[in-house]
Amino acid sequence: MSSTTRTLIRGGLVITASDETHADVLVEGGRVVALAAHGSSTADGWTADTTIEASGKYVIPGGVDAHTHMEMPFGGTFAADSFESGTRAAAWGGTTTIVDFAIQSPGHSLREGLDAWHAKADGKCAIDYAFHMILSDVNPKTLREMDRLVGEGITSFKLFMAYPGVFYSDDGQILRAMQQASGNGGMIMMHAENGIAIDVLVEQALAGGRTDPRVHGEVRKALLESEATHRAIQLARVAGAPLYVVHVSAQEALAEIVSARDKGLPVFGETCPQYLFLSTDNLAEPDFEGAKYVCSTPLRPKEHQAALWRGLRTNDLQVVSTDHCPFCFSGQKELGRGDFSKIPNGLPGVENRMDLLHQAVVDGHISRRRWIEIACATPARMFGLYGQKGTIAPGADADIVVYDPAAEQVVSAATHHMAVDYSAYEGRRITGRVETVLSRGEVIVDQGEFKGRAGHGAYLARSISQYLN
Ligand code: URP
Ligand code: ZN
Ligand code: ZN
Repeated sequence: MSSTTRTLIRGGLVITASDETHADVLVEGGRVVALAAHGSSTADGWTADTTIEASGKYVIPGGVDAHTHMEMPFGGTFAADSFESGTRAAAWGGTTTIVDFAIQSPGHSLREGLDAWHAKADGKCAIDYAFHMILSDVNPKTLREMDRLVGEGITSFKLFMAYPGVFYSDDGQILRAMQQASGNGGMIMMHAENGIAIDVLVEQALAGGRTDPRVHGEVRKALLESEATHRAIQLARVAGAPLYVVHVSAQEALAEIVSARDKGLPVFGETCPQYLFLSTDNLAEPDFEGAKYVCSTPLRPKEHQAALWRGLRTNDLQVVSTDHCPFCFSGQKELGRGDFSKIPNGLPGVENRMDLLHQAVVDGHISRRRWIEIACATPARMFGLYGQKGTIAPGADADIVVYDPAAEQVVSAATHHMAVDYSAYEGRRITGRVETVLSRGEVIVDQGEFKGRAGHGAYLARSISQYLN
């Protein structure tokens, strides 16, 4: 289908972050051009080359996953999804935009890192994509480059208080990067864990013969997440910069965010499906199976989940992204047999997020509109894509999902499309399923058939966050 054709999505319930409307949606030239009450579109003489019947279905904006790591070099290996396989899997799961992380290698410029990520993604993606930039080497040149990148649409920068010797920045480097961001409109994204203290505990655990995957969760203590979150917030205050804390898993860390937000500070929080649906019980699975669940921040005891759901309801957490960073069990997670610290950190999930969050609607954790808000609209607003992405409104890109809220499915590696040999949600029953996916007006998934192509996805230069004023 060419993007100049007219497509009518008829009879569905259109759900955005703000409204639920029984409406038909007219798409032309890759964009939404109009919405009309059911029945009135034909009465108004709307004609279309293609009509998608959506009676009894939800018509929702394509998901915006603001945290993925395709082909990420990490833990002595590479994340198993390429931009091609990972964006195809995202499309299957109803996500039509990803924001991936380009990486600056120590001793290299931001530009070199960004060019390398463009080379990986260019011509490969099935859906639209953008980049954040990981700063691994904050120095005067890096700081100057940040300004240029913001001007080019890379408007967010991730810093790590964890992983000494890899991505780690010390407090002075963090403060300088925050000061730079406060002047140029960039959003600082923080991996908030005290990596220096964690490394001491890792060394002590291994010396004591504690080598199993579950120890990964024990040494990466909730207190060390909350301490780092607190410190990041204070540094951001000193710099006068906004702060977005990624992959919040501990209720104590969330409490720091709540306290900052109660003071009116521009502090934002993201959590991920793994922290909402999985727990340390998974990390403790026998026969090294727990390695499948090793990620950082780590999974927490089940009790933390209620606090995260509450945070999502009260808007103390604003975004659910996946932190999709898949490593196969065979040959990759296995690198850490006998030493949990060598298990590559990361979980697959880019295909599962929209469904898992719909299940949260079914289970009563969040409303339908909140589902769209945390998975589509707010990530788009937070990272300068809103209007084009994250909603269904005249002028927006026609990134649209027809979602069947009554379909039943069972999540499994046997049927998923991510290039990874296990599912973190194996056997989980989900009510709801993606039926049709449009990306800029083109049908890329249609009733169980992939109709997209590598190279359809376009690079998106982003504006500054709508959360900065
Ligand atoms: O375990 C994780 N989260 N892996 C990806 C890298 C990161 O810290 O986000
Ligand atoms: Zn991280
Ligand atoms: Zn990540």
